[in-house]
Amino acid sequence: MDQQRPRERREHTHSRESKTFRRARGKRIRTFFFFLFAFSLAWNAYGAEEQFPVGHPDQGLPRPEFLSAPYHEDPQHALNRVFRASFLATVVPAEVGLALPREHGNPSDFFRGPWYFAVRPGIPADRKLFGGDVRLLSREEFSPDEAASFARALAEVDGEMASTLKKRPALAALFQHDLLRVAQRLVEAGRNPELLRPIGAAVKRVALSPAQLSQLASTYELGLKSGSLDFPLPPDLLRMDPPVSGPYWELLRNSTSVFNAARTLAWSRVFISWPSIHGGLTDFLSAQGKGQKAEVPVGAISVLVQGVVAWDDRGFPHATPIAFDVRVKWLANRDPMSAQNRTTSRDGVQIRVYELRRESLRRGAQDRLFRPLHDDDQALFRDYGTLKHTTLAAQCTLCHRLHGVSDAYLGGFITLGPSAQPRLARTGSERLRLAEREASQFLANLEKAAKD
Ligand code: HEC
Repeated sequence: MDQQRPRERREHTHSRESKTFRRARGKRIRTFFFFLFAFSLAWNAYGAEEQFPVGHPDQGLPRPEFLSAPYHEDPQHALNRVFRASFLATVVPAEVGLALPREHGNPSDFFRGPWYFAVRPGIPADRKLFGGDVRLLSREEFSPDEAASFARALAEVDGEMASTLKKRPALAALFQHDLLRVAQRLVEAGRNPELLRPIGAAVKRVALSPAQLSQLASTYELGLKSGSLDFPLPPDLLRMDPPVSGPYWELLRNSTSVFNAARTLAWSRVFISWPSIHGGLTDFLSAQGKGQKAEVPVGAISVLVQGVVAWDDRGFPHATPIAFDVRVKWLANRDPMSAQNRTTSRDGVQIRVYELRRESLRRGAQDRLFRPLHDDDQALFRDYGTLKHTTLAAQCTLCHRLHGVSDAYLGGFITLGPSAQPRLARTGSERLRLAEREASQFLANLEKAAKD
C-alpha cells in the first residue's frame, strides 16, 4: 500500500486540463482497442491462415488459436463443432520424421541416403495439434467425454439446421463426406462403435436429392478459373464421353488399397501428359504390355484428382464434381539424390498439391478455393497404422522416387508400372462408376456396424 501512495498523490494533483486530456486519451485508447478487436475479427475471417506459414517451425500445421468455421459463419455452430471435433486432434505422434527441418543437421549430409525413411520415436514433448487434411484424419478415437459432446453436436444437425445446410448443396455434400470419413476411420480402428449410429443418422439427414447432386458445380473448374489452382492444367481435364485427348490422357489402372473408395469414399482419376519429343504415351504402354522396360522421359507429368462420392437421400452413391484434392507430379530430372537436386524427392520427382478449402467454398472466396501445399508443410500421416509427424515431401517420396527402387525406369509414376496395368480410359466415367461401387460396400458395412 505504502508503495502506491506517491503515485496516488501524483494523480490527485492533476489539473482539470489534464483530466480532459486523460478523457480524450481514454477515448483514443478505446477507439484503438475497438479497431484492434475489429481488425482481429476480420483477420480471423479473411486474412490469417488456418495453418502456420512457410518458414515457421510448425509450417502447415493448424494454428491452435484459429477457430475454423467451414460450415457456418458462427464458429460455435454445431456444424463447425462437428467438423473440429473430427478433424483436429492433439496427439503425441508415434514417430517424428527427421525430414522436419529442425530435426536434421546439414542438408547436404541429410539428403544423401534414404532420408524419407529417417525417423525417431515420438516423445511427450512432441505432442501437438494436428489437422485432418492431406486426406488423412489425425483423429484415432474419442474419449468418453469427447464422444458424448460429439454425439450431442451431431444430434443438433437435424430439422431446420439440416435443411438450411442443404440449401448450400456443395457444403452439405462435403459435410456428409467428412462424417463418412470419421465413420470409416472409427470402423477401421475398431473404436467408438457407439458413434456409428449417430454418424450414420446425420449422414442421412444431410443427404441431397439426386436432382440437387446433379446440379453441383465443378470445384476443379472454379479453382482453375479463379487461379487458386495455378498449375497450367486443361480446363476440361475432367470431362467425359469422350475423355480429353492430349496433352493429358486419362489412365485406367488397378489401384492399390490407398485409392479404394471403400476406404477413401472418393473417386480418383489419373492423367498423364507425355513430353511430345518422345515416342508418346501409347508407344510406352504397348512396350510395357510386351514386358519391355522403356524409360519414362523427363518432363512427363501426372495428375491425380480425388473428389467426393456423396449419398443421395435414397441411399445411392453419386460421384460428384466436388474435387477436393489435386496432386500434380512430374519428373524434373534423373540426377542423383542430393540436397542440390532441388526437387521434392531430391532425386528428380517434383510435386505440387492443392487442397480444397472448405471455408472458402462457404464464403464463395473463389480466389482462395484451393490451398497450395509446400514440400516442407507438415502433417500427421498414418503409415500402416502408425502416426508419423513429418513433411509432405518425405511422405510423397516414400512411394514416388527413383533412389533405391527397382523400377526407377518408371520415374516415380507408379500408375505406369506393370502391376497397375495402365490403359487409356474410353469414357472418362469408368473411375467414377468404380468409386460408386466400392463406396457402397462401405455404406453397407456402416449400416451393419450401426445396427450391431
Ligand atoms: C503409400 C504409398 C504412396 C504415398 C505415400 C503417396 N502415393 Fe501417390 N500414388 C501411390 C500409388 C500406388 C499410385 C498409383 C495409383 C493407384 O494405385 O491407383 C499413386 C499415384 C499418384 C499420382 C498419379 C499417378 C502416378 O503414378 O504418378 C500422383 C500425382 C501422386 N500419386 C502424387 C502423390 C503425392 C503428391 C503424394 C504425397 C502427398 C503421394 N502421391 C504419396 C502411392 C503413394
